[in-house]
Amino acid sequence: MTGLEGPARRRIRVIRGGPVLVEGPVEVVHDGEVIVCDRFQVALCQCGRSKILPFCDTSHRRSRRRN
Ligand code: FES
Repeated sequence: MTGLEGPARRRIRVIRGGPVLVEGPVEVVHDGEVIVCDRFQVALCQCGRSKILPFCDTSHRRSRRRN
């Protein structure tokens, strides 16, 4: 051991067409506000359609157009 280890690594999963899943607990900074999340996993919106930004509310599942 070197004694120089950094903080534990967190896993972040990027879901194509969906959110970014971040292992918690985390602090999310959004529009200058710090939001403390104690959940084991946090879903961050990538599509911009969520009504609870910066978090995903599954709005990405709705298609934009129906054929
Ligand atoms: S990624 Fe899920 S609502 Fe935007």
